[in-house]
Amino acid sequence: MSDKLRREKLAIEGGKPVKTTPNPPMFPGGIEIGEEEKKAVLEVLDHRYLFRYYGPEEFPSRVRLLEEEFAKKMGIKYALAVNSCTSALISSLVAVGVGPGDEVIIPGYTFFATCAAVIAAKAIPVICEVDDSLTLDPDDFERKITPRTKAVIPVHMRGVPCNMDRIMDIARKHNIKVVEDTAQACGGSFKGKYLGTFGDCNAFSFQYHKIITAGEGGMVTTNDQLLYDRAQEYHDTAACWRPGGPEKRFSSARYRGELFPGVNFRMPELIGAVARVQLKRLDGLIEKMRKNKARIKEAISNIKGIEFRRLNDPEGDTAICLVFFLPTADLAEKFARALKAEGVEANSIYNKGVPDWHIYAHWEMILNKWTATPEGCPYTCPYYKGPEPRYTPDMCPRTLDLLGRSIHIDIPPQLSEEDCNLIAEAINKVARAYL
Ligand SMILES: Cc1ncc(COP(=O)(O)O)c(C=O)c1O
Repeated sequence: MSDKLRREKLAIEGGKPVKTTPNPPMFPGGIEIGEEEKKAVLEVLDHRYLFRYYGPEEFPSRVRLLEEEFAKKMGIKYALAVNSCTSALISSLVAVGVGPGDEVIIPGYTFFATCAAVIAAKAIPVICEVDDSLTLDPDDFERKITPRTKAVIPVHMRGVPCNMDRIMDIARKHNIKVVEDTAQACGGSFKGKYLGTFGDCNAFSFQYHKIITAGEGGMVTTNDQLLYDRAQEYHDTAACWRPGGPEKRFSSARYRGELFPGVNFRMPELIGAVARVQLKRLDGLIEKMRKNKARIKEAISNIKGIEFRRLNDPEGDTAICLVFFLPTADLAEKFARALKAEGVEANSIYNKGVPDWHIYAHWEMILNKWTATPEGCPYTCPYYKGPEPRYTPDMCPRTLDLLGRSIHIDIPPQLSEEDCNLIAEAINKVARAYL
């Protein structure tokens, strides 16, 4: 057998793999953690200032500074730091007035937390299709609106912006609140405006897998003072007495809905210290991912038979991953297996045998309407005037078809040019064999 033929033989059939060194792991900001983060944490420890509202000496709260810097970076009036994106989603939903009897529309492709947050806010999730951008399908969103729809959560899934023009138009037309889930897309944009600044109240994550991270953490953003006050009130049981809390600002003139009991979703100072350093890394990380993705995409652009995931705004893509569709789900699974054998970490996104909490068809707790107590709230809530909600694994067939035919490849910012070239070479090789 000639060398060329041996090279061409797929690794899955006993040929030589294209890529023999693994990618850096997909923790974009996480694996950049270094001296600056250490210094920031040590400063907090040195001053023994571990709680945002007080300590043994004067020291500016790192959480408060993070909020100021985040709001400035995003170009939004208010940022409220919390301990996770799930907390940010719940606080945002409560802030915009979601509660018993309401429906909230969410996409069928998102991490389960988006859905769980709706239940925590005592409302009923309505699951909607994604389109070929793998983000909320605006047409299906509009079809699923009922008189009970209070809010919609567009999720900028896998770093790609939703079609915010259409979503905002539809939401405004039907008087529906918008809560963007920007967990996976911090630093992405739509038509030049940062994601997480379009909705009434929006949520971000600093969990370890996200673009910038402090291990855990989240942020609420809004331009509306009432919504900020309500989110602040909810995220901290004692918010009204805190410096800057509503009690201090409006000691006499309070508005309705401003004060009510909340929970404790406060962000710890150590997390705030790390997140501030990571925020400075955001632009650099995104620039590298965009460069890597462009290099790979360019090198596979001539393949016939694959279709790239549509980008609602290519310039606003955070480029955390590359996704393309193949003609059938069987072929996608086969393609992913062959790519793995070539040394490229690739997956077909929806694979019936592989549970994945990002796809509604695997959300057993929702499909079965399991609840923490036997009364079955929110599904049985007497304030809910709609028909009893039904969830079935096949309720969003387009979503499953698209996800079943898709191949997903992570794009860590730390990939070298050589890594990118080899990933593209492996895709080209498998495509020559299978397409
Ligand atoms: C789309 C989406 N929403 C919400 C979350 C929840 O984030 P957190 O873990 O910070 O609560 C995640 C995290 O994986 C996510 O990917």
